[in-house]
Amino acid sequence: MSSLSNSLLIPVEVRGMKCLDRKKFSRIVILPILKIPDEKLSKITQICKSYFLKLSNFMPVQILQEKNSENFNKCIYLNPDKVSKWLDISEADRTLLKQLNIADDNFDKKEVQLNYDNFKHDEIFKAILPENEEVVSGFSQIGHIIHLNLRDHLLEYRSLIGEVLVDKIKTCRTAVNKSSFIDNTYRNFSMEVIAGEEDFLVTVKENRCIFQFDFSKVYWNPRLCKEHERILEFLKPGDILFDVFCGVGPFAVPAAKKKCRVFANDLNPDSFKWLNHNAKQNKVNMSLFKSFNIDGTDFICNTFRNFIIDYCNGTEKLENGSKICVTMNLPGMAVEFLKHFVGLIEDEKLKDKFDGRIVVYVYCFALGDDPYSIAKKMVCDNIGADVTSSITDVFDVRNVAPKKEIMRVTFNLTKEILFSSSKKELSGEPPNKKHCKNIIFDN
Ligand SMILES: C[S@@+](CC[C@H](N)C(=O)[O-])C[C@H]1O[C@@H](n2cnc3c(N)ncnc32)[C@H](O)[C@@H]1O
Ligand SMILES: *[C@@H]1O[C@H](CO)[C@@H](O)[C@H](O)[C@H]1NC(C)=O
Ligand SMILES: *[C@@H]1O[C@H](CO)[C@@H](O)[C@H](O)[C@H]1NC(C)=O
Ligand SMILES: *[C@@H]1O[C@H](CO)[C@@H](O)[C@H](O)[C@H]1NC(C)=O
Ligand SMILES: *[C@@H]1O[C@H](CO)[C@@H](O)[C@H](O)[C@H]1NC(C)=O
Ligand SMILES: *[C@@H]1O[C@H](CO)[C@@H](O)[C@H](O)[C@H]1NC(C)=O
Ligand SMILES: *[C@@H]1O[C@H](CO)[C@@H](O)[C@H](O)[C@H]1NC(C)=O
Repeated sequence: MSSLSNSLLIPVEVRGMKCLDRKKFSRIVILPILKIPDEKLSKITQICKSYFLKLSNFMPVQILQEKNSENFNKCIYLNPDKVSKWLDISEADRTLLKQLNIADDNFDKKEVQLNYDNFKHDEIFKAILPENEEVVSGFSQIGHIIHLNLRDHLLEYRSLIGEVLVDKIKTCRTAVNKSSFIDNTYRNFSMEVIAGEEDFLVTVKENRCIFQFDFSKVYWNPRLCKEHERILEFLKPGDILFDVFCGVGPFAVPAAKKKCRVFANDLNPDSFKWLNHNAKQNKVNMSLFKSFNIDGTDFICNTFRNFIIDYCNGTEKLENGSKICVTMNLPGMAVEFLKHFVGLIEDEKLKDKFDGRIVVYVYCFALGDDPYSIAKKMVCDNIGADVTSSITDVFDVRNVAPKKEIMRVTFNLTKEILFSSSKKELSGEPPNKKHCKNIIFDN
């Protein structure tokens, strides 16, 4: 609404500007006003609010400094797109105003000097960028960095767009354009600074924790905040969390803060570094927190496996009712790591000793019409058995492209999977049981 309604006030000459010239926004405009006596201000405001001129750094109600106007010591600035004469005010509102002795005579016009500071970034973009084309939409902010995904037709405007955002968004010091080139392993992307400081070290708050990291070197997505929160809701004090692809710690750090024991892993050395930094910064109890910088396969086949074995032989304990949780948030690949759980423990004797509950939260991209069935099938296919009866939840986390959803599948990692020693135990085609052993010994 505001961008439309202020369209008359920005000089048309700015259209097509590619190099930001703030002076071009300076202009004297003639604005409609209502002259009113101070004591009626609050009643008139109630009636006229919707006609007020809303601009940045501009008070719609001002002291009237005019000669011969001792009866009217205030003036209200009206939006020129809505009101250019008294009769533009609706009949009902005029009737109410007349009851307060405000009428045609109170309506006037006044010159005002406006400039760049009076407009918001979206109003400025609307005035400058090509008409009838998609404007700058959907940028995200990570700490002081604004991250843009510019369509081709806006590329030549990119430094202007960046400068306006740095000017107008108080918490933004740096604007970058997202490149289509994403590092497929670490999930970070190269970025080009289009305005502001070349500083990628950000501080963000999420789920009552503070996270710091170099945004050019690690993965972070502010859109996952809610999903992180949902998983943290499932976790109870005393639970054990194995976070296979933990990034800089958005599951792991708050989980440890709520007194879960955490084993957090990421292959990216920069993620690992910031993960440890964030654990310290948030004052987690370090005896509850262990971090790893290894491949997810090793993490499952060694760290996780050893814990289960230690649990079976009594070295590790679970407090009453506590569970073991495994988060696997690497949607492009995580399901492929599920095979490592199959037959992970070879020692049949331990099977009877295992009475813990293990819950796996695995993420995947589902492409197609029925993301729920697709996600379930991906899990079953990768485990090599129909485990649908162990699935407790299939959840659509978010849409990333047409017919492409990020899904989360939650399932009980049963003894049958973990201790499966032969084809008979799992229906369907068992996957190659050697996956883990090979990797353990290759390392
Ligand atoms: C999509 S991010 C998720 C990070 C974090 N869990 C979050 O929600 O923000 C996936 C992470 O997996 C890490 N990663 C990729 N391949 C890996 C592997 N083979 N083993 C361990 N970590 C891996 C990446 O470095 C990245 O930090
Ligand atoms: C940002 O956009 C420009 C214009 O297309 C492009 O040349 C540049 O490579 C982009 N930056 C990155 C880091 O890809
Ligand atoms: C991703 O981060 C790593 C360091 O963690 C860095 O070496 C690499 O250049 C980054 N990749 C991209 C595409 O920026
Ligand atoms: C940290 O956790 C350990 C293990 O649960 C506990 O014994 C210790 O008291 C905790 N320390 C603090 C300061 O809470
Ligand atoms: C339990 O198993 C672990 C791993 O195999 C082993 O190191 C440990 O000595 C065992 N403890 C007992 C009490 O058997
Ligand atoms: C179970 O654990 C809770 C907290 O972890 C504790 O308060 C409670 O006493 C425990 N119950 C039993 C039966 O041990
Ligand atoms: C998963 O395990 C929990 C605890 O053992 C149990 O209550 C629940 O019914 C199980 N759900 C499924 C679908 O197997």
